[in-house]
Amino acid sequence: TKRTPMVAGNWKMNGSRSLVESFTNVLNSHTFDNMDVVVCPPAGFLSMFVAQTYSLGAQDCSAQDNGAHTGDNSVQMLKELGAKYVIVGHSERRQDHDESNETVARKAHKALADGLVPIICVGESLKIREAGQVNEFVGEQLGAIFAILDAEQVGQCIIAYEPIWAIGTGKTASPEQAQDVHAFIRETLANYQSDLALNTRLLYGGSVKPDNAAQLFAQPDIDGGLIGGASLNTDDFIAICQAAI
Ligand code: G3H
Repeated sequence: TKRTPMVAGNWKMNGSRSLVESFTNVLNSHTFDNMDVVVCPPAGFLSMFVAQTYSLGAQDCSAQDNGAHTGDNSVQMLKELGAKYVIVGHSERRQDHDESNETVARKAHKALADGLVPIICVGESLKIREAGQVNEFVGEQLGAIFAILDAEQVGQCIIAYEPIWAIGTGKTASPEQAQDVHAFIRETLANYQSDLALNTRLLYGGSVKPDNAAQLFAQPDIDGGLIGGASLNTDDFIAICQAAI
């Protein structure tokens, strides 16, 4: 099975109208063959993009229908704003908003139900890694997803492995460290349902830069990346996209 590579940029709480304009101009003048390129800006910027050669994603969604939930964005709204994907369970949301494994699973479920593709983030802290509990911890994060999503639904998701200690630190996981966890995630998917393991796209995130992207993406179980800091610069982002083809 050949999985289509994907590179998704997560702007986090960054950007401006002028950055949206420069991304719109620069990315639309590039063609990305045989891969998916996604830009995930803050929700308020989504509708300012004109995305022709790439797709848009949101950084979070509500697990609820439209209603009395002040400050939240429903999946339905994010779709109207042009999103096709939505990141759920980013470690920053787990930290800043106390999102539990179960909340993340409910968001993924809602995204699928209302028509967005979830990019589900998992990954351990340095403390967990040093305690030798990476697989256990990531296994639990995945287990919460399997508790709410059936195999067909999991098959529609993208999973991003982001070790927290590598996010925004410039300290990327080595290709071997990343590959090990990706292989574990694929094996866990296979135990849930065998077809899932072959077809699910697994992205690595954590200090991916133009000079380390190719090595990471060359690993057999790494199908692309979720890019933070380097996704705010058009040249760096395009260079990382090119490393995935
Ligand atoms: O979602 C993206 C990740 O958190 C990676 O961020 O590339 O700035 O380390 P970073």
